[in-house]
Amino acid sequence: MIEPSPLAEFAGRVALVTGGGSGIGRAIALRYAAGGGDVVVLGRRPEPLEETAHLAEELGARAAVVSCDVRDPDAVTAAVDGVVGEHGRIDALVNNAAGNFVCPAEDLSPNGWRAVLDIVLNGTFYCTRAAARHMLPAGRGAILNVIASYAWHGHPGTVHSAAAKGGILAMTRTLAAEWGGRGVRVNCISPGPTETEGAGAALWPTDADRARVLGSVPAGRFTTPEEVAESAAFLLDDARAGYVTGDVLSVDGGQWLGKAVYADSSRADSSRADSSRADSSRSRS
Ligand code: COA
Repeated sequence: MIEPSPLAEFAGRVALVTGGGSGIGRAIALRYAAGGGDVVVLGRRPEPLEETAHLAEELGARAAVVSCDVRDPDAVTAAVDGVVGEHGRIDALVNNAAGNFVCPAEDLSPNGWRAVLDIVLNGTFYCTRAAARHMLPAGRGAILNVIASYAWHGHPGTVHSAAAKGGILAMTRTLAAEWGGRGVRVNCISPGPTETEGAGAALWPTDADRARVLGSVPAGRFTTPEEVAESAAFLLDDARAGYVTGDVLSVDGGQWLGKAVYADSSRADSSRADSSRADSSRSRS
């Protein structure tokens, strides 16, 4: 549940959120609305987008929906131009639309590879380019790309998604350097396992998968879309993150740090404690 933010940090501003009909995209759109901003949510299926827009309106935002496939560069350009035509500006773009499934690399068809690269990497570029064409002349803008930590540490079964997210990371850093002097910031957020229907079905479909994922998170829990959205709000807010560009904020309970594979540290600690107790009793005698 997202409540109005006392910061009102996005008052008078407009954000476009791709994949805003569900999960993390919806939560970010609603958090922007809660901060006083107006939101446009873009995706393929209008029904969930309409629901997000309705919830944003309940938070006091002006909200709109654009049905568009991010794989279509002309449709994306028309959609972004439409946002600016309607609202007079675009202050934030959140590239959240994604497609994913787990598949052994040797079994992945060229079409499966292309589908994910097209949505995730190409779609992000098309949206970014279209938004930047308005943000750069205005001298301001914040672009936030949703990636995953396997972009840098890899993960079996995700070669298509990891390649796409790794490409977005390189794109983010390049554009941050290219546009840094022109008022447009470009950052990434890297959520860990987040309780959404889409992620669960694609990435931890069974109870055993879920338990294994949970065991990989030092924080010992999954996160929520709302928690991720709070970090996204920070990066989108010029007042708090105006000097942050080209960076990645991991919101993953430490999952990317990896899991210890050596001796159980609780055992190691207790044996050290035992020997230090023995040492101190020897020195007392
Ligand atoms: N394993 C292996 N290949 C798969 C697959 C899976 N689980 N799911 C889809 N593919 C392949 C298809 O077989 C097809 O290749 P083919 O023509 O060689 O058979 C190719 O990917 C495209 O699939 P299709 O369903 O036609 O594409 P689409 O554009 O409708 O769907 C996807 C895009 C594939 C990314 C689909 O998973 C999707 O729409 N996902 C959206 C939701 C989502 O992924 N959310 C996850 C958030 S973490």
